[in-house]
Amino acid sequence: MLKVGVIGLGAIGQRLIKGFEGHPDTVIAAVCDTFEERAKEVATELGGVQAFNDHNNMLEQTDLDLVYVAVPPKFHHAVASDVLAKGIHILCEKPLANSVEEAASLLKQAQDAGVVNAMNFPLNYSAGSKSFEKLINDNYVGELRRVQLKMHFPEWPRPWQQNAWVASKEQGGYVLEVGVHFIQQLQKIFGEVRVKDVQIQFPENPKASENAILAILELSDGTPVLIDGMSQIAGKEEITFTAYGTKGTLSLLNWGQLEGGKLGEEILPLELDSSLADSLIDNLVKALRGEEATIIDFAAGYEAQVVLEELRKG
Ligand SMILES: NC(=O)c1ccc[n+]([C@@H]2O[C@H](COP(=O)([O-])OP(=O)(O)OC[C@H]3O[C@@H](n4cnc5c(N)ncnc54)[C@H](O)[C@@H]3O)[C@@H](O)[C@H]2O)c1
Repeated sequence: MLKVGVIGLGAIGQRLIKGFEGHPDTVIAAVCDTFEERAKEVATELGGVQAFNDHNNMLEQTDLDLVYVAVPPKFHHAVASDVLAKGIHILCEKPLANSVEEAASLLKQAQDAGVVNAMNFPLNYSAGSKSFEKLINDNYVGELRRVQLKMHFPEWPRPWQQNAWVASKEQGGYVLEVGVHFIQQLQKIFGEVRVKDVQIQFPENPKASENAILAILELSDGTPVLIDGMSQIAGKEEITFTAYGTKGTLSLLNWGQLEGGKLGEEILPLELDSSLADSLIDNLVKALRGEEATIIDFAAGYEAQVVLEELRKG
């Protein structure tokens, strides 16, 4: 049984705790949150595992196989550095850090430590995005003409994630929270990408995150990538990742649905290939056992961060 420690017990930390607890090969051995009540409460719910309010105490006093870092982005660097200094395998939330320099530093520390270094980019394990990737590789759209990422939010932060950091320019915004998932997918499926032009707009409050972004990027073969982000607008949330090609159009819609059509046809829902669904935790277990595994590592996290920061700075 692999013993997992979790640092940061918010919405996302607690979501993955359920996954580790439900897996036959992993168990949560310790939890840590600077918010004392929350740490105690989660530890009690887990049947009385050790609770900490300072992650260094947790790292000193426990014997863990893997530490999952799920604190807000501006704390990733400090917390993950301490985990790596102890030589413990690590799973870090996205984005890897809160600047390119911090991301480069974590990548180097992870490589020097020689531990399994994984990022939680769930699209890499879901049937929707894996079906999208497979259809692209099977030439569904033909020769690629354009990739487009649309991120439209009636309200940001979204009603279910109302906390100060998600709304802040310092470490939040949807380019960082949502966009980075698709930057990573873009790099994985279509290869290297560089930013050509960015127009990013912010509301009057100087501390608030962006309310619009329009950006043009380019794949290494010159194919343009358009990013169209808007918030505080009418209508429904829509996150669409679309590939336009010489033979057809294919979209991954709202994280898990696929739709597409061939030239001259209507765009219609497409069935997912559910056999492609995979599990982050299964792959972490394999990686920790030294077996071949699908891990999105800190090197991929760093590559995504480079593009993310160019978009954020505008
Ligand atoms: N992979 C995904 O799909 C996905 C989705 C949403 C958010 N995230 C990422 O997950 C992370 C957490 O997001 P969230 O929405 O759960 O945030 P949250 O604000 O709900 O929770 C963060 C928790 O970390 C605690 N914390 C802060 N600093 C700490 C420290 N130094 N040590 C210990 N605990 C500390 C806070 O008290 C809080 O309980 C962020 O990096 C975010 O970008 C990932």
